[in-house]
Amino acid sequence: MILSPVTLRDAWEAEAANWVEWARRAGHDSYGRFHREAFLELLPPPGRRTLDVGCGEGRLARDLKALGHQVVAVDAAPSMVAHAREADPNGEYVLASGSALPFEDGSADLVVAFMSLQDMDDADGAVREAWRVLEPGGRFCVALVHPINSAGRFESDEEDAAFVIRDSYFERRRYVDTIEKDGLEMTFSSDHRPLEGWLRPLADAGFLLERVREVPAPDNPRWQRLPLFLHVRALEP
Ligand SMILES: C[S@@+](CC[C@H](N)C(=O)[O-])C[C@H]1O[C@@H](n2cnc3c(N)ncnc32)[C@H](O)[C@@H]1O
Repeated sequence: MILSPVTLRDAWEAEAANWVEWARRAGHDSYGRFHREAFLELLPPPGRRTLDVGCGEGRLARDLKALGHQVVAVDAAPSMVAHAREADPNGEYVLASGSALPFEDGSADLVVAFMSLQDMDDADGAVREAWRVLEPGGRFCVALVHPINSAGRFESDEEDAAFVIRDSYFERRRYVDTIEKDGLEMTFSSDHRPLEGWLRPLADAGFLLERVREVPAPDNPRWQRLPLFLHVRALEP
């Protein structure tokens, strides 16, 4: 009998091989098309140490290294870490949870969580850990599925399709989306929270919000009417 994965970590471990194909095919997902550039604009210049939490197969960590960041990257799924190490044998890729980082207090000046907090079983714990490992003056930069996006769906692929939220916007819930595109299939397992559900843990940890951006998709007319992603830059004062 095959049991379906019960934790988000296990769901992502089970999907690692699909994710590697999905993330590495040129132009296939939003990262290469526009999302990487939009997120890089949010980041401070390279400093002492950048932690990439929820690094997956390592594409952002490799790009940050190329831009001069001293990167240590972390993922909780063993296969993701193995793929990241294979693609960048000189890089530092650590198997650990974002909510239990094996790093000293104040040992980084930048923590990034790019499209990963919504995929963690204890995202609030990961926010507290980001605070702990950052030094005063450090930044926590986050990209998330926008809560409007995860709350509902377009009724069709038409440009003027209605966007419908059938369930509660406010209620937190786990959702699973299987997407087939150009012969690749990928199952995304994530948590939906309302906007306050993402911003409050940052404020509770002590972060001050420096930037909040709602990111549309420049190459998809439907997703120019609504935000696809949410970007936050938070300062540890
Ligand atoms: C959508 S992928 C994003 C990967 C990468 N940031 C990127 O954009 O290419 C989400 C990642 O979060 C990781 N993840 C899930 N739970 C985690 C946890 N508790 N701690 C660290 N990473 C976790 C998954 O294994 C997966 O690699």
